[in-house]
Amino acid sequence: MTSNAQANDPPSLERHFGGAEGLLPLWIAEPYIDIAPEITAAIEARARVGWYGYETRPQALADSFWAWMACRHNWDGTDLHTLVSPSVGTSIGVLIEQFTQPGDGVILQPPVFTDFKTLVASAERTVARNSLVLTDDGYRLDLADLETKAAEPATTALILCNPHNPVGRVWSAAELSEVATICERHGVFVIADEIHADLTLHQHKFTPFATVARGTGVRWAALHGPIKTFGLAGVCDTLVVTDDREVADAFEAKSSRLHLTRNNVFALAAFEAAYTTGGAWVDGLLSLVETNAQLLRDKLPEPIHLVDLEGTYLAWLDLRDFQLGVRELADWLAGAARLGLSPGHWFGREGAGFARITIAAPTEQIEDAIGRFVDAVDRVKS
Ligand SMILES: Cc1ncc(COP(=O)(O)O)c(C=O)c1O
Repeated sequence: MTSNAQANDPPSLERHFGGAEGLLPLWIAEPYIDIAPEITAAIEARARVGWYGYETRPQALADSFWAWMACRHNWDGTDLHTLVSPSVGTSIGVLIEQFTQPGDGVILQPPVFTDFKTLVASAERTVARNSLVLTDDGYRLDLADLETKAAEPATTALILCNPHNPVGRVWSAAELSEVATICERHGVFVIADEIHADLTLHQHKFTPFATVARGTGVRWAALHGPIKTFGLAGVCDTLVVTDDREVADAFEAKSSRLHLTRNNVFALAAFEAAYTTGGAWVDGLLSLVETNAQLLRDKLPEPIHLVDLEGTYLAWLDLRDFQLGVRELADWLAGAARLGLSPGHWFGREGAGFARITIAAPTEQIEDAIGRFVDAVDRVKS
């Protein structure tokens, strides 16, 4: 498996890490390996058609997605509304606009994917923090605090991340049911970001929020697509799924008002190829991630630990024993360890003392990263 060197363009490295010399970058949430050859072939075939005009095929996208979901996750959602959206961020932005008001509180569960906060704040809504709790048994939802936050009259939505970036939890059906019940009780709209759904490890199973929401009366929309699983963020098409006709209509109305409904011919080709032919490639990716996670578990030098990883290819490293401030830890990672990772505080103050490393990468690169940690730790000791 070769590394996908394109993933780290120099301007981006310069912006985030000051262009540190000899940095090993493993910080973007995408596979650092060649994407499935079937997808490349489909894009090449589409390019050879020589016609790049208007092409809309949302039904083909929905059909390939639902066939994939039935096969990989035993989830039949063909009775749900399935809408196409350019990106997850677009979908969250539109849902916030349509189902909350300026000044409303939107619950986030930090440490969590950085864009959520930006999307909430830029829409002039307020972040209501329902921080995750790190127990001896891994990260847990703070359901009592969720109840309190949801009960506040200004709170109208929750952005749920399942599986969770960056802490790697795959929320269980029981946990998600509690979320659905609490949100229904307080009229909180659930935006379930399920973009990492396919990336579950070992015995962990992805539970679609749709399945726990059924019959509860909670209002929800779930966000899906092949962009994270298959490394397709640059040829993006994603989906919004909901059981609520009003939600679907409101989403479509806003999307068409802003002309967000236009399809990209290459994205259409990539999306369909991913879901119709990408199964074996994803199996390979998951076993690579499991191998790399095991390496981290076995070989990371004390006092660095891997937080138990249930899903996603984003490993969450606990470096709190160094007792460094957030700036110092970021400098140590890029400067002493020469690793381009995402310092934990990027994901909220709850992430202080942690770092996220993308492990959908060739095993030699993960070995290299571990070696860099070993050298940097040795220098701290000497
Ligand atoms: C949970 C989650 N949602 C959304 C995104 C980004 O999706 P998009 O680029 O389609 O906005 C990411 C990217 O890392 C992510 O991890």
